[in-house]
Amino acid sequence: MKEVKLETILQVYTDINEVSKDIQALMQAAIEARENAYAPYSKFNVGAAILLDNGEIVIGNNQENACFPSGLCAERTAIYYAGAKFPKAKMLTMAITASSQNQLTDKPIPPCGACRQAIAEYEIKQDLPIEIYFMGAQGKVVKSHSLANLLPLLFESSVL
Ligand code: THU
Repeated sequence: MKEVKLETILQVYTDINEVSKDIQALMQAAIEARENAYAPYSKFNVGAAILLDNGEIVIGNNQENACFPSGLCAERTAIYYAGAKFPKAKMLTMAITASSQNQLTDKPIPPCGACRQAIAEYEIKQDLPIEIYFMGAQGKVVKSHSLANLLPLLFESSVL
């Protein structure tokens, strides 16, 4: 038996003012998307914005459904939209923000496991890391230099 240690390294910024102007702009696009989320059931709004290598910014937000599992997270809405609209573009950076309608969300909200797996697909496809920045409604912003850094032992197609 040997023990294997898996490490995730994150950069934690005090707030949005500490990240670069470009990332602030991307996060602002995510904040606007978050405001337009359709979340009448959970009352938890999430917005995502993806910067592509062609300069385009693609956004997404969570879209809920009375039949709960039929809804979709913001990150997957955004990444599938990017894949559909700009299939040849590479995804450089994703900004994510979440805000509860019931309480102040002042801690960074990372993408859920299913969204990490979905983002991983595109990171592998394009053979280029996707930087991920995530925050709540205010407060700290966390950066991961890649999706793989957030999802050790991800499932990938080479085993199929
Ligand atoms: N949600 C996201 O949009 N992204 C995540 O990574 C986690 C959760 C949404 C799904 C649902 O509409 C609401 O937040 C509560 O789970």
